[in-house]
Amino acid sequence: MADKKKSPKGDSRSSNSPVRTVPSILKRKGQKSQKLVALTAYDFTFAQLLDSTGEVDVILVGDSLGSVVQGHKNTIPVTLEEVCYHTRCVVRGVAHALVVADMPFMSFQVSPEQALQNAGTLLKNGGAQAVKLEGGRSMHETIARLVAVDIPVMGHVGLTPQSYNRMGGHKIQGRSTTRRAQTSADEVFEDALAVEDAGAFAVVLEGIPAELAARITSALSIPTIGIGAGNDCDGQILVTHDLLGLQPDFSPKFVKRYREMGEEVMTAVREYASEVRSGEFPSRDHAVYEGPDVSIRLARKS
Ligand code: KIV
Repeated sequence: MADKKKSPKGDSRSSNSPVRTVPSILKRKGQKSQKLVALTAYDFTFAQLLDSTGEVDVILVGDSLGSVVQGHKNTIPVTLEEVCYHTRCVVRGVAHALVVADMPFMSFQVSPEQALQNAGTLLKNGGAQAVKLEGGRSMHETIARLVAVDIPVMGHVGLTPQSYNRMGGHKIQGRSTTRRAQTSADEVFEDALAVEDAGAFAVVLEGIPAELAARITSALSIPTIGIGAGNDCDGQILVTHDLLGLQPDFSPKFVKRYREMGEEVMTAVREYASEVRSGEFPSRDHAVYEGPDVSIRLARKS
């Protein structure tokens, strides 16, 4: 019988959607009609909304929280404690998807031992089922160290946002044949191979030409999950706030905004403000009037 994750109240969710595990994600390699669907979440409410569709395979507690939740211009300031906190919030809302926690800048680069401690914390205290970390060849030993103690790792190569300062911003990688500020196509390819060789169960390909992503996808035996990497990956990931249009001024080319929720939020807030000021809200329908019990309790107090 398939495992059922329990919601906080102990009841399993109603949808028949299966519980995703690392082996079930691995099995989706090359299944063009069953592409992996991944999204980010940082809190309970969004995690529950995404998960209750039954359509999301992987929920990533991304260090993109630095931008979309905390308002930083990049992910560099995000700490392990913050990712751990947001992972705990997300896990409480998820019954089906695989929850992956992102390892923030400087939580894994110092040494494989440091990475091991911190990845362990994200599983033990955060409740994540796997971690994601950025980097290819340079992270081979680190990924292998985590995998050796059964911490599943998702790799991340190409445009690695934690390399913001080296890249001079969030810049597409793998376009040139020689390394300058950006990683060359061959280097991105080698990075992806290294991640697979170290034992990762999947790899995010971010911000690279579609042809390169296609070449990597057919060379690897683990699923590739693309973001700004074309249509030939084994799956796709987006930052949920981007697909919902929650930040109306942020619209990079690779993002498709499925809704304009930012506009919706502002419209709702304007309506609320206007009804509060006009006295239309709260109406009788939204008010609680004192029943006998309340009156009695109030009377006793006075
Ligand atoms: O931090 C994040 O959200 C990510 C995804 C966009 C891949 O790394």
